[in-house]
Amino acid sequence: MKILAISGSLREASTNTAILKSLQKLAPGTTDFTIYCPDPAIPHFSPDLDKPDAFTSVETLRNLVKNANGVIICTPEYAYGVPGTLKNALDWLVSSGELNEKPVAALSASPMYTGGEKALTSLLHTLTALGTVPAGSLSIGSINTKINAAKEITDSETVEALKMLLQKLEKVVAEKVSG
Ligand code: FNR
Repeated sequence: MKILAISGSLREASTNTAILKSLQKLAPGTTDFTIYCPDPAIPHFSPDLDKPDAFTSVETLRNLVKNANGVIICTPEYAYGVPGTLKNALDWLVSSGELNEKPVAALSASPMYTGGEKALTSLLHTLTALGTVPAGSLSIGSINTKINAAKEITDSETVEALKMLLQKLEKVVAEKVSG
């Protein structure tokens, strides 16, 4: 099974990317689990620019999504919304359709107790517009108290919730593959 994990943060010390790395470790050995942070070289989306093979950065993203059986997106909340980098990357997938009918699990994490829930709600709306198959969602609040200096999740409830989300995604993917 091929899982593509997309982070909404470009930060080196990102807690959201750290969550994806934890999920990578929790995934079965048979899972091909790739973590992707949106390439800053992806241009601002405009339909005028949306021509086949116009940008290597866009084609790389589109191929990664196309070749994945399932996708996990984990994002911070910026100003009550999805970071522009992630939203821009998703906008590039509208016309090409790689996310259409693709199982997607969505997460948000924040040092605030609200866990980036507004960004998560907005992300889920976007994923609906893109025609994805919902495969679970999770909002993680107070992330800074649940992660250590080595960027490992130390909170057992959070680890359990991540395991369950991964299992749900794998189940939705398996159901889709078996038709
Ligand atoms: C934030 N942060 C934030 N957090 C939140 O819960 N709601 C918000 O609206 C915002 N807005 C916001 C705007 C800007 C410009 C910054 C830089 C930060 C805090 C944010 O959740 C925090 O920096 C996270 O650690 C970012 O996620 P990563 O990079 O650790 O994955």
